[in-house]
Amino acid sequence: MISGQIPLWLVDGDDRIAFVNDAAVRILGFDSDDELIGRPSHDSIHYKHPDGSPYPAEDCPITHATQRGEPIRIERDWWVRKDGSLVPISIHCVPLEIDGRMGTAMTFHDLTASVQAEDERRRLEVARARLGEVRASRARIVAAADEQRRRVVRDLHDGAQQGLVRVVMALQLALRGGEIPGEVRTLIGDALDTTRSAIDELRDLARGIHPATLTHGGLAAAVQALANRASLPVVVEIADDRYPASVESAAYFVVAEALTNVAKYAQASTVRVMTTGTASHLVLMVDDDGIGGARPSDGGGLAGLSDRLAALDGTLTVSSHSGDGTHIRAEIPLSPGPPPPAATEVDAPRHEGRGARPQDRAGDDRAIRPAAGGRRRRRP
Ligand SMILES: Nc1ncnc2c1ncn2[C@@H]1O[C@H](COP(=O)(O)OP(=O)(O)OP(=O)(O)O)[C@@H](O)[C@H]1O
Ligand SMILES: [Mg+2]
Repeated sequence: MISGQIPLWLVDGDDRIAFVNDAAVRILGFDSDDELIGRPSHDSIHYKHPDGSPYPAEDCPITHATQRGEPIRIERDWWVRKDGSLVPISIHCVPLEIDGRMGTAMTFHDLTASVQAEDERRRLEVARARLGEVRASRARIVAAADEQRRRVVRDLHDGAQQGLVRVVMALQLALRGGEIPGEVRTLIGDALDTTRSAIDELRDLARGIHPATLTHGGLAAAVQALANRASLPVVVEIADDRYPASVESAAYFVVAEALTNVAKYAQASTVRVMTTGTASHLVLMVDDDGIGGARPSDGGGLAGLSDRLAALDGTLTVSSHSGDGTHIRAEIPLSPGPPPPAATEVDAPRHEGRGARPQDRAGDDRAIRPAAGGRRRRRP
């Protein structure tokens, strides 16, 4: 047996194997060339397709080229090993006279490594495409949820709230009437108080669902409104820039949840909310000087925020050591989208009730053009 690096295979005019070198024997999984020499070439190593179906010699272009005495080059084919497994090869055949008759000399290359690399590349491509689809669909779900939320807020404003406002006006009118017995006057006064507080509760509810201040005034204004309602001093350092609506919503709910947590658990004397921007991300920080010990847990507000940010490819980091306050950092990519829809006035600042409701943890994906010249608010 002649050895050599390049697999070599000689076939005579009857398609019988006349010679195989070491490399060819090895790649095809045989023990020695004795097992091959003299046997029909196609029927020994080219008799089936990769799907297992038979590959008759009369269909084989190599066999035809051999019979015609023509060269042929095939970039990708499959030969069958001794154990029946397939090996991907490229093959180059040239006519050659063997024992006075035309035969063929074949050199081939084992493509296993490049086929594996190709398969891996394809697998990665598919995985990447799927990841892209999942990301896009998460963002769409978030956008749809937020649109739904805005509709609920609009309905609350146009329906229940307007109805209650009309009741207030009617009761005020009734009180102005002359001949009202004292007992009835008291009843009407009570009804007025109840209706007013129902309006306030409705406003608080709407604000928790999706604050109109956020849509109208942007993150700085909405966070300032939260700060004004907080039970402790909140320093707000947020530029008046506008960001995509999904980013503003996510950032707003981070602040709302963080401030609610501070009020509930932190025993802090002050909180600072600030943003820093990069070209690609909004970075938001909420730092309190309380007792620390915040631990995100399943179903809790912090975990919900983390999920919400993840839907936008953002991250939430909570650093909270005992005695060292709680430091929350949200990084949210700024992704472009269509302009925001017209908003309603449910959150008009007629009354600033306490307690934003941060239970709403979705966002939308609409973009707002950045306003010119960001100005920082700093108000304790
Ligand atoms: N600023 C903070 N200071 C001290 N402890 C905090 C602070 N924020 C959160 N924690 C602690 O971390 C826990 C988890 O907070 P998280 O907001 O995830 O859930 P929760 O507030 O308990 O529930 P939910 O937000 O659904 O009302 C809280 O129960 C609280 O013990
Ligand atoms: Mg909480």
